[in-house]
Order: sequence, then structure tokens, then C-alpha cells
Amino acid sequence: DAGHYDTGGYEHYLLKEISEQPETITRTLSGRLDERFHVAHLGGLNMDARETRSFRRVKIIGCGSAYYSGQIGAQLIEELARIPSDAEPASEFRYRNPVVDPDTLYVAISQSGETYDTLAAVQELKRKGGRVIGIVNAVGSAIAREVDGGIYLHAGPEVSVASTKAFTSTSLAFALLALHLGRVRDLSPADGRRVVEGLRRLPGQIEQILQQGDKIAELAKKYAHHPSMMFVGRVRGYPVAREGAQKLKEISYIHAEAYPASELKHGPLALIGPDMPTVAVVPDDELLDKNLTTLGEIRARGGQVLMVGHREPGAKLADDVIVIPKNEIELDPILLTIPLQLLAYYAAVVLGRDVDKPRNLAKSVTVE
Ligand code: G6P
Repeated sequence: DAGHYDTGGYEHYLLKEISEQPETITRTLSGRLDERFHVAHLGGLNMDARETRSFRRVKIIGCGSAYYSGQIGAQLIEELARIPSDAEPASEFRYRNPVVDPDTLYVAISQSGETYDTLAAVQELKRKGGRVIGIVNAVGSAIAREVDGGIYLHAGPEVSVASTKAFTSTSLAFALLALHLGRVRDLSPADGRRVVEGLRRLPGQIEQILQQGDKIAELAKKYAHHPSMMFVGRVRGYPVAREGAQKLKEISYIHAEAYPASELKHGPLALIGPDMPTVAVVPDDELLDKNLTTLGEIRARGGQVLMVGHREPGAKLADDVIVIPKNEIELDPILLTIPLQLLAYYAAVVLGRDVDKPRNLAKSVTVE
């Protein structure tokens, strides 16, 4: 139920919510960056410095897109704070009788704050003495009330079933958390400053990506008639690929698979051919050469490549390229996500799907 919230002149809530991201990202950042000490202010965590320094692991749980943003989060925390971190679907976590460790920081992610699997996982963690924080959009929701502290996204209501602005704001909240955890450990002031400045650039860069909407709509027309698409990325690009495939599946009903680009040759390469194009997430990072080699392997098997990245790799390696602005390596995944949201959106429009209310899905799954 959208209540008083309307599409504001956009054809769908989804496009409105994608287009809002410069503002929602600004709101998630608001009041949380310290330019003097290059730290993040996250008062809602309710955590003193000693405790902030004490965690030896971070375990992130969430469902659907929340889980994929958790994968981006785990990567950010490992890179910036050097704390071993991983993400797991909350729905799996709660059923496998996990070891609850007093030295682990548990992070529950939920846009709605009402997803039952995530709530049940939080309750089980609390029962066993786990320290749990939330990254939640809906203020005062069930998960927000259950956790010991957390980070609110302040992204505003998200109406369309497929998550977009909550996804990028969650990834951003993890960048803030990683900065916060990192700056009381090993992260240098110089690296802290680099990240703070990178975060400040995000809204303007998102604006630039949104300006490519027409081009991405054309690409969606070109690719949407394929029954199936492969999404690949390495390390930072992999959760972006997973979320891109998820968006496409959810709203266009095109079958999509996401694989680490490095795993392609261990199985799914057998699927590659003229019927199955690949969307490749290829940032300019230390894995660029490896990724370009993968594109060559795909092309050699007759597969089309749509690359999202920071440069034109040449016509031999990609049929189409969406070039986006470069940020700091750790923050690039947030920006790389946005063209894939637009691609899924326009593919769904081309195919005449019910964009905001895809079949069989609910905005928040409050039952088991
Ligand atoms: C449902 C929605 C997904 C969403 C997931 C988690 O499955 O269809 O789009 O990512 O729930 O929702 P949450 O509100 O917990 O982030």
C-alpha cells in the first residue's frame, strides 16, 4: 500500500525509486561523515570504543537483495577494517543451528524490518547471547526493535517489490560501518580520508549514471528477447552480478544466473553461446586483466557481452559497454549496481511485465 506516497510523475515506483538514489544516498550519509578525523558517526550502534574494537568476526544475514548487499558489506568490512566477514541468507542461518560466538558482530539487514526469516534469526541470536545490530530502512519495525542498535537507512518508503534504493543505501551503510570499525583498528587517516571523499562523490556520480537511462533502455530492447542471461563478476563485482541477475529475474522473468567470473570455466561456460548473452561487471581494479580474459573466452564461444565498467575494452571483447564514473575501488560496487537496475527495469517494460508487482512475490515476506 503506497499510502500518500505516489509515483511523482514517473511511470512506475521502480523508476522513481531508482531515480531517487542521489537523494537517498545523501540522506543515508547525512550527519555521519567526519571530515576532520575521517571517521563515521554511527551513534545508533550504541557501542563504545572498547566494544567496537573487540570483534574478531562479522557475520551478516538477510534475505534476497538484502543478502546480496550483505555480500558487498562483508567485502567492505574485510577490506577497510580487516575483520573476517561473511554474509549468509538469514533463512539458511536460522535453520542450521549456527554456533553463536561472543566475539562476533552479527548484522541483520532488512529494508522492511519485518521479514520473518531475518527476525527469527535475530531472535535466535539474542537468545544465545549474540551481539546483533540492524541495518534497516523502516523505523520502529520488528527487527529494528529487536536488535541492540543499528544504522537506519533513511531512504524513505520503498514501494516497488524489487529493492533498489534500499539496496544501495544498505551497501553505503556498510561502507560507513567498515570505516567506523576500520578507524579504531588499522585503517590509516589517509585511507579514511580517501573513503570519506569517495562517499561524498557518490550522489553526483549516480546522477551521471542515471543520465544514461535512454542508452540503457535501448540495450534492454536489444537483450530482452533472450530467454536466459549470464551475469559474471569477480570479488567486488560478484555480488553486483548476483543482484543484477536477481533484479532481472524478479521483474522481467528472464532467467538469469550469476557466477563468479573465475568459476565460468568450471561449468557454466558450457551454456555460453549465441542464445545466452553475458552481463559482465568489470571495474578498473586489480582484477581487470583477468576479467578481460574472461570476456575473450565468452566471445570465442559466440556469446554476446554487455560490459558494465570504467572503460571501453574494444569491440573484440564486448558488444556493448556501459561506462560509469570511477570512485574508490571499495565503493565502486555501489555505482556498478545502478546500470543493472535500469537494465532490469527497461527489460521488464519492454516485455510488458507488471514492474512494481511481479507475480508470485511480496514486498516483505512476514510468514515462514
Ligand atoms: C522479499 C522481497 C525482496 C527482498 C526480501 C528481503 O523476498 O521480494 O525484494 O529483498 O524480501 O526484504 P527485506 O525487507 O527484509 O529487506
